[in-house]
Amino acid sequence: MADLLNIGVLVSGSGSNLQSIIDNIENKSLPAEIKAVISNRPDAYAITRAKKHGLPWNILEHDNFQNREEFDQELIRILKTSNVELVVLAGFMRLLTPVFLNAFPQRIVNIHPALLPSFPGIHAQKKALDYGVKFSGCTVHFIDEGIDSGPIIIQSVVPVHDDDTEDTLAARILQEEHRIYPLAIKYYAEGRIDIQGRKVRIKDAR
Ligand code: GRF
Repeated sequence: MADLLNIGVLVSGSGSNLQSIIDNIENKSLPAEIKAVISNRPDAYAITRAKKHGLPWNILEHDNFQNREEFDQELIRILKTSNVELVVLAGFMRLLTPVFLNAFPQRIVNIHPALLPSFPGIHAQKKALDYGVKFSGCTVHFIDEGIDSGPIIIQSVVPVHDDDTEDTLAARILQEEHRIYPLAIKYYAEGRIDIQGRKVRIKDAR
């Protein structure tokens, strides 16, 4: 079997995407190992999940740092000393500085609850509903210096129903998030991702 990919997962909230990654690792569909779970919020339920599965975890509260760069330096230190190869943002509600991006070039991925480039930023599900789109979905992408603007790895589409609320749409999208995020990480772990400018090609993807 190929070596396991060392990943670090950055969280701020419920951590349902973290859970789907944990589940896929535990049932052997994802050849990865979680070397660090880091939250910027002490009350994130994601940390409870990490503890339950015996994963190494850290809480970094931004109030304890002078500025964003210092916060990012500490993040980098933890991730590097944990030998993390791929940084996985899973509901991490904090902008990263170029200091962080340069420490992990083309090695930071994110999941966004809309079909990018539509509806970047926060409240993506509400923006999609308010706009009146008939389909929305989710996007796994690499991080660059913009907001949700990096090269796209996988997207999945869901219908928007007339009686949807933000919550019902978010739940439908979340189901797809839990499917495609572990899949994208698996492609990365298998060395099947090729990035040419904005375009990401996945070797032998069906
Ligand atoms: C997800 O909707 C994700 O797309 C967005 O933040 C949410 C995180 O949810 N970036 P969870 O903490 O993984 O449950």
